[in-house]
Amino acid sequence: PAEQTVAVIKPDMMDQKEEIMRSIEEAGIVIQAQKTVNLTKDEAGAFYEEHKNKEFYGDLCSYMASGESTFLVLSANNAVEKWRNIMGPTDPNEAKTSQPQSLRSKLGKDILKNGFHGSSSVEHALKSIEQIFGSSMTIRSSKSK
Ligand code: CMP
Repeated sequence: PAEQTVAVIKPDMMDQKEEIMRSIEEAGIVIQAQKTVNLTKDEAGAFYEEHKNKEFYGDLCSYMASGESTFLVLSANNAVEKWRNIMGPTDPNEAKTSQPQSLRSKLGKDILKNGFHGSSSVEHALKSIEQIFGSSMTIRSSKSK
């Protein structure tokens, strides 16, 4: 069954948004929704809440609030893993040796300004979709608790 993930085209990559979206679709992934927003630092902080104790958190929030980003809801079989493979590893320098064809290898600047984000799991994807798009975008209503 199709799975959803969230892809983010970060502020420094927005001039290449059209090509990037085309390459996502050429990989057989459906872009179900897109939203372009300039996050505030607080919104960026909420989006990256799981990193709040990392030393790079402040820089990350400033980077993500530095301009508009485009948030995409992607749908495909194994969407989480598929998009993470297309992006490549977090650090563009590492990507250049281990996954030279990946987006971060080709376009990322450094480990902070790496150009792209992808959800790490379906659960994270659902949380991000709710934050950015509102709960109406989720395929499955959240599991009954
Ligand atoms: P992303 O995949 O969006 O998830 C968290 C982000 O934090 C990451 O991409 C980078 O932009 C940034 N990041 C992760 N690790 C580091 C690091 N060691 N130093 C600086 N920034 C980092």
